Amino acid sequence: MSIYENLLLNLENGILVITINRADKLNALNIDTIKEIKAAIQQVYDDPAVKGAIFTGAGEKAFVAGADISEISELSEVNARGFAERGQEVFSMIERCTKPVIAAVNGFALGGGCELAMACHMRVASEGARFGQPEVNLGLIPGYGGTQRLTQLIGKGKAMELMMTADMIGAGEAKALGLVNHVVPAVELMPKAMEIMNKILSKAPLAIGLVIDCVNAVYDKDEDGYQTEANSFARCCSSQDFIEGTNAFLEKRKPVFKGA
Ligand code: COA
Repeated sequence: MSIYENLLLNLENGILVITINRADKLNALNIDTIKEIKAAIQQVYDDPAVKGAIFTGAGEKAFVAGADISEISELSEVNARGFAERGQEVFSMIERCTKPVIAAVNGFALGGGCELAMACHMRVASEGARFGQPEVNLGLIPGYGGTQRLTQLIGKGKAMELMMTADMIGAGEAKALGLVNHVVPAVELMPKAMEIMNKILSKAPLAIGLVIDCVNAVYDKDEDGYQTEANSFARCCSSQDFIEGTNAFLEKRKPVFKGA
């Protein structure tokens, strides 16, 4: 029996599709769902059969319409900090995962939903997807990393505007702002996410993981990103995949990477 009540997991050809499955609540993230996302992303870390993951939402209407407001409404100052920190921890696990994680945004990505999408390494959206951080409508602010990641992705001025006006934007504007990598018709959403994922999975896995580490280092105040890059570059050069990749180029053939 599945340990997941609010997620559907489907592993195919090394790609774990994680579907938030509370369609009647527009896939709102209650605390149990956050716990399940933690378990699912831990599986991505631990299971050698999983090479990458794609997050999406059940149904046609929503990716995730935010944290579950019925639970949020019960929060007090005492437990709200822990609530935010636990969500932040899970979303940081997604961001720091050294296997690629893509968000396939199939509808509303609001509040915690936009934050979940932003924690992924990149985002593909359907034409009807809508993005926003509407927390100020509730007397709140984003609490799952949104103030930080939205600013990193689209810059200070636009991030301020979206978070202070609570405006929702469409997929086209999200792409123009750099929040979304690709916008496609709804039927092409998962195929496009899979296409990108398969392209990434055809590269050297160690190098992919180190790219993720190095890009994340830009946003880590305690890390010297250039040093991280130099160390990671050196690590690549000690790998078998580096020998295979360079030999394959010189021998005019496709490389066969082993992830070592
Ligand atoms: N938390 C809990 N339940 C939510 C939810 C959320 N974030 N978002 C939607 N739902 C529930 C609704 O309460 C409703 O449940 P019900 O059928 O039991 O009444 C169901 O999902 C469908 O939502 P509904 O509002 O009827 O759909 P809509 O098409 O009229 O509106 C939205 C869609 C996304 C605009 C609207 O649901 C909304 O504004 N949601 C909240 C978004 C938000 O503020 N997110 C940040 C939270 S911090």
